[in-house]
Amino acid sequence: MPCTVIVGAFWGDEGKGKIISYLALKDKLDVCVRTGSVNAAHTVWYKGNRYALHMVPAAFVYEKCRLLIGAGSNIEVKQLLEEIDQTNTKNRIGVDNQASIIEEKHAIQDKANAHLKQVVGTTGRGVGPAIEERVRRTAKLAKDILELKPYLTDVSEEVNNAMDIGKKVLLEGTQGLLLSLYHGTYPYVTGRDTSAAAICSEAGVGPTKVDEVLIVFKSFMTRVGAGPLPGEITKEEAIKRGWFETAAGTGRDRRSAPFNFELAKKAVTLNGATQAAVTKLDILFPTCKGAKTYDDLPKDAKQFIKEIEKQTSIPVVLIGTGPEALDIIDRRK
Ligand code: IMP
Ligand code: MG
Repeated sequence: MPCTVIVGAFWGDEGKGKIISYLALKDKLDVCVRTGSVNAAHTVWYKGNRYALHMVPAAFVYEKCRLLIGAGSNIEVKQLLEEIDQTNTKNRIGVDNQASIIEEKHAIQDKANAHLKQVVGTTGRGVGPAIEERVRRTAKLAKDILELKPYLTDVSEEVNNAMDIGKKVLLEGTQGLLLSLYHGTYPYVTGRDTSAAAICSEAGVGPTKVDEVLIVFKSFMTRVGAGPLPGEITKEEAIKRGWFETAAGTGRDRRSAPFNFELAKKAVTLNGATQAAVTKLDILFPTCKGAKTYDDLPKDAKQFIKEIEKQTSIPVVLIGTGPEALDIIDRRK
């Protein structure tokens, strides 16, 4: 996996944090670049601790991994500094000179905007208004912020140099395809493109440098905020099935629905995905909990995995069977 892009299939919260933390430990990743911004939270469970990361790459669990935040990202300085502290990563994290800054006024604008708040259901972290500011060419950049001086770097240069000497690089996408500003369920979307191509662009990596695009599916679908969710079930039904979740970032209820193969196919096509991961198989089929090999899975769970492979035409290489980073069935060669 010299360069792998991790991308979400649906509306975020597919479990990208878990998959990235597993790959970091298992493959001994050299470099991980986080894209997107503070509206996304990646949950990592490691050694009994839970982390909900809004800024620091989920690969931090592997202590030799260089952690980078790309030029296309938007940084909330206070949150970043807190997470650097929490994860003890100040010696190995780098921020691109040209990443832009979310200021306090941006969050205030998010929350005061009736369309964003009531119609779209923004997380209110100020990401949309910060991107508007960047488009107007008036945004502050990371290089303008005193507290970020120790971390400044050229992420694109670092990553491309690392790939040139055969290091293992992972580009960490945030959110999911159906929240993409271009390809999602507009206007119920986030303020950026969330597809694999956009992840490369934000990190400063050309498309020909990518070896694998690993798409992450959850065994059922969830979304927070407004917008269509085909097959949506009631909260009561979700609780009964064990699917009910609250958002790692905002604590809001997540709505839920069964896995949708049509949407899965669309997400694979639009991202040019070459491999898939499926998380929370143990929630859909409780007897899968803690399974470490494919052969340990019950027949109905295998059938579900086979159906995903058949309909999307890509292999399911990783299967999540529990919350910890290492609760994974790994079918890669
Ligand atoms: P905003 O990007 O914070 O303005 O939110 C716009 C829409 O995207 C809302 O429906 C949010 O709930 C959703 N959204 C943004 N980031 C995430 C995420 O990381 N996971 C899930 N939903 C998100
Ligand atoms: Mg999340």
